[in-house]
Amino acid sequence: MNIDKPWDGRFTEPTDAFVEAFTASVSFDRRLYRQDIAGSVAHAKMLAHVGVLTAAERDAIVKGLSEIEAEIDAGTFTWSVALEDVHMNIESRLIARIGEAGKKLHTGRSRNDQIATDLRLYLRDAADMIDFAIQRLQKALVSVAEREVDSIMPGFTHLQVAQPVTFGHQMLAWFEMLQRDRGRFADCRRRINVMPLGAAALAGTSYPIDRAFAARLLGFDAVAENSLDAVSDRDFAVEFAAAAALLMVHLSRFSEELVLWSSSQFDFVELPDAFCTGSSIMPQKKNPDVPELVRGKSGRVVGDLVSLLIMIKGQPLAYNKDNQEDKEPLFDAVDTVLGSLRAYGDLVPNIRVKRESMLHAAQRGFSTATDLADYLVRKGVAFRDAHEVVGRAVRHGVESGKDLADMTLEELRGFSAAIGPDVFEVLTVTGSVAARNHLGGTAPEQVRMAIARARERLESAARK
Ligand code: ARG
Repeated sequence: MNIDKPWDGRFTEPTDAFVEAFTASVSFDRRLYRQDIAGSVAHAKMLAHVGVLTAAERDAIVKGLSEIEAEIDAGTFTWSVALEDVHMNIESRLIARIGEAGKKLHTGRSRNDQIATDLRLYLRDAADMIDFAIQRLQKALVSVAEREVDSIMPGFTHLQVAQPVTFGHQMLAWFEMLQRDRGRFADCRRRINVMPLGAAALAGTSYPIDRAFAARLLGFDAVAENSLDAVSDRDFAVEFAAAAALLMVHLSRFSEELVLWSSSQFDFVELPDAFCTGSSIMPQKKNPDVPELVRGKSGRVVGDLVSLLIMIKGQPLAYNKDNQEDKEPLFDAVDTVLGSLRAYGDLVPNIRVKRESMLHAAQRGFSTATDLADYLVRKGVAFRDAHEVVGRAVRHGVESGKDLADMTLEELRGFSAAIGPDVFEVLTVTGSVAARNHLGGTAPEQVRMAIARARERLESAARK
């Protein structure tokens, strides 16, 4: 059975059955029904405002659309692949429900400006939801930072023990990355929130439309300046996906730390049982599934970004069907980001930090070697010479199996006569972190201040 298509007037043959399924987007773009209906309601009100529709027609359309929205919400709406996309499904249903007035909704409009509008409304909401979810994770990181402000762990470079840091400081590093992610979403949201409606198919429309009127109803900050650009570019989608990809890459790096730290080799943290799974064959296993999955999922979102870039790349003006391919990558990016943020927002407050084990790890691996060099500098030795002296002391430590703090004063003085009994204060990891007491440093005193600032920054609407 062939359903009549809204555009089939000039056709003499029905669409090939496979082509109909191949070109349809309703299986995924139905997800935009709320935005599509909101856009149609605003369009109908605008048409009535400029006298193209009567008030009665407008009211019938608005009422019909809200009933259709309720049907879709309730799951009683029948979606038809023959009707291709979310727009024609809803429009056909409107005509079936309200008759003549329904046929007038599409006056002065095209699916081209309609879909561009829907997508911008959708991404605007998605950006707000993501911002909220990022903040939730940031709050969790700050509370863990506060709890672990004095906990000492080895800081790494090249994954080799470098210098002791506090666990609180490490948590706030992730806070900063997420704060910039918020900034990127907020920034692209400004360019998302511009209204294409009124561009119609590509050149505008001959009706006396009032675009600013519709923009106000839909909460858009501005109206797109150029109709050809408005229906065709998807740069806002690329920006959104880029922000999402970078956020996922941050979460992936964080995941890698949790995977490493929860291994028996590191033994720095224990992840809550509720976030891990066991092995069907190895009874001892507790696998960090959530971090591993988030790390793995980052690849999808990077792929979503690349898909969008390449989708746009070869398109001449104005709208091309290629753009239909923008939705699945965007939905995937939104779902993946929101899922990952939710999992981490739940997991992070429940990370158990193994303070003794981390402290022990920080005390191994000559993590205070730089402190010894700095000590020598304070005693008048040039930094390069001090570096050499400490290098020899470390080599002795490696050979004798001792850390610097385990050596006797005589042993240490064998490397430099400038070393005195006060050296032991700088060789402790607590002394080492306390000494890095400046803005951005790891000293607990600084981290406490950074926590207070982080809370203020979370509270201020301006994404600093
Ligand atoms: N399904 C289309 C899309 O997602 C809607 C616009 C189609 N316009 C057209 N003239 N075929 O982009």
